[in-house]
Amino acid sequence: MSASTAGTDQIVIRKCMGMDELKACVDLQKEVWNFDDVDIVPLRLFVVSQKIGGQVIGAFSDNQLVGFAFSIPGSRNGHSYLHSHMLAVREKFRNYGLGRRLKLAQRDDAIAHGFDLLEWTFDPLEIKNAYLNLVKLGAITRRYSVNHYGLSSSPLQGGLPTDRLVAEWWLKSKRVLNLLERNQSPKFTAVKKIRVPGEIYSWKAADADRAKAAEVQKRNREEFLSSFRDGLSVLSYARDDDGNGEFQLGRWDEKLSYASPGSEGNHED
Ligand SMILES: CC(C)(COP(=O)(O)OP(=O)(O)OC[C@H]1O[C@@H](n2cnc3c(N)ncnc32)[C@H](O)[C@@H]1OP(=O)(O)O)[C@@H](O)C(=O)NCCC(=O)NCCS
Repeated sequence: MSASTAGTDQIVIRKCMGMDELKACVDLQKEVWNFDDVDIVPLRLFVVSQKIGGQVIGAFSDNQLVGFAFSIPGSRNGHSYLHSHMLAVREKFRNYGLGRRLKLAQRDDAIAHGFDLLEWTFDPLEIKNAYLNLVKLGAITRRYSVNHYGLSSSPLQGGLPTDRLVAEWWLKSKRVLNLLERNQSPKFTAVKKIRVPGEIYSWKAADADRAKAAEVQKRNREEFLSSFRDGLSVLSYARDDDGNGEFQLGRWDEKLSYASPGSEGNHED
């Protein structure tokens, strides 16, 4: 199938079945992240995840795996939720809506199994991922984790510390229902904006420019941490024609949380 048809109904989203489809997820993971072996999520964890209430959902073109979403169950303060550890789409199938469709399938399956919350982390320097998570899916974020995984072997990380924002996707929140069922973007007053320059991808990729990317990461880290301490949440994201991105922060008016009282807005433990 050509990439031009990749966004059509011919791509089937469904749970992965059998060892060969799980192996295909491991292979696609290697292709997408190009990790060293030590950083690879092994086949056995995909197997275990399916057996303990996690999710391995694939996107299939002519029965070939071209994308997957992988999650494991988690628990915080007595509440069960799903932690989505990986979302990947093969390069030539990107930007046809498959990432979003995989997340929506995760959501349907999560709700069917009684979950209200799906979480995942994402790199705050990845403009595309921020846009997908915040604008297309309606996730929010109010937690920041400094150097979450330690140093990563993936070239996508560009040798920078693995700082991550934690996306919280409250599956039945007003915000998510309005967006997914009525196509209404959430209304809020932005009281702070945190900017990511469009050049960030080329800066991360080039040895000569990496210091500029590190500088943006350091500056934004401080801004996120202090904003979250002040009780702000990231509620939307904007990108301009030059590819720059902008996190928009405000006060979330829904009181959904599994954190201990007073612990939101801090570092991830
Ligand atoms: C993240 C990823 C899974 C998204 O998959 P995808 O199928 O391309 O996603 P979608 O097509 O559903 O949505 C992407 C959206 O971002 C937009 N987008 C593309 N490039 C962008 C950019 N540089 N800046 C901002 N938005 C961008 C797309 O236009 C699309 O929005 P639209 O539908 O309004 O046009 C895929 O890019 C990927 O595999 N990346 C590498 C691995 C990764 O980073 N995984 C996520 C972290 S675990």
